[in-house]
Amino acid sequence: MFPNAVSIVEVGPRDGLQNEKQALSANQKIELIRLLSLTGLDRIEAGSFVSPKWVPQMANSDAVFKALNLEDKVHYSALTPNLKGLEAAIEAGAKEVAVFGAASESFSRKNINCSISESLKRFEAVFDLASENKIKVRGYVSCVMGCPYEGEVSPSAVTQVSKELIDMGCYEVSLGDTIGVGTPMSTRLLLDDVLKEINVSKVAAHFHDTYGQALVNLYTALGYGVATIDSAVAGLGGCPYAKGASGNVATEDVVYMLNGMGIATGVSIEKLLSASSYISEVLGRSPVSKAANALLTK
Ligand code: HMG
Ligand code: MG
Repeated sequence: MFPNAVSIVEVGPRDGLQNEKQALSANQKIELIRLLSLTGLDRIEAGSFVSPKWVPQMANSDAVFKALNLEDKVHYSALTPNLKGLEAAIEAGAKEVAVFGAASESFSRKNINCSISESLKRFEAVFDLASENKIKVRGYVSCVMGCPYEGEVSPSAVTQVSKELIDMGCYEVSLGDTIGVGTPMSTRLLLDDVLKEINVSKVAAHFHDTYGQALVNLYTALGYGVATIDSAVAGLGGCPYAKGASGNVATEDVVYMLNGMGIATGVSIEKLLSASSYISEVLGRSPVSKAANALLTK
């Protein structure tokens, strides 16, 4: 049974832009986020407080957060891998953050330079300071349907890390198909396992579209009642530590599909096109979204 409404988490300004060769200025990011905030999207991941040596594209997240109107109805969040990241996020005014772990040991080492269990240990200090400051913490699990270094990843490994993140205090866990290898069948196997332990209301789908499977995998997840979807305007993105990973599923494509299914999002596809056109012009290419390209040529 499909949900009546879906909450979209726009991750383009973070997951998208972190992987663009061309680093954007703070002002360009702020303009993109401003346009996104006019679309009806109420959750926008605006940046990350990670090491600038690891991800230089996110180095100006501080300036971006300081320019956002954090009192408006949009919830802006930031990725924080450790205490240092959370301290910087708080200093910049962030009221919501996300920690990110993985279901694959090799990916965890390549992405955050530690094992899965070390990462969870690191997050404890993040949860403590976040709770002192009444900051909501979301959790990501990467490589839920495959790892660029290890190949297959078992659903039970995903369930285990997801459950630990929820037990530690994440209000929601976002399941990342980081390299977009999943299919409807692997999506089913994954959700059959994860939903035994975690209520569907706490699960989000974060699918990259590398193999063109993201929409059909989302359709599968919707059938399980998953009602939170991460997507990136214009299909921006990838992951700097997952070679060949293409962008997240495009927000325009997701909204087009959900509109057609009669599932409410509160997002205006026309207004999304303005954000999509803006960022595509800055990057000098067309949006990686079939719906956006079709609608823009109408
Ligand atoms: P490390 O080298 O092990 O860290 O990196 P360290 O604690 O030894 O510190 C080394 C240096 O980094 C020091 O500076 C620290 O101060 C600095 P130095 O003394 O060399 O000048 N440092 C920091 N600087 C700024 N902000 C911080 C911070 N922490 C330490 N928070 C670390 C460990 C976690 C920092 C590093 O591996 C890192 O930043 N990784 C981030 C990688 C990343 O952002 N990946 C992309 C996001 S994940 C993703 O895209 C997947 C997702 O979309 C879901 C999906 O699709 O699956 C979420
Ligand atoms: Mg991602």
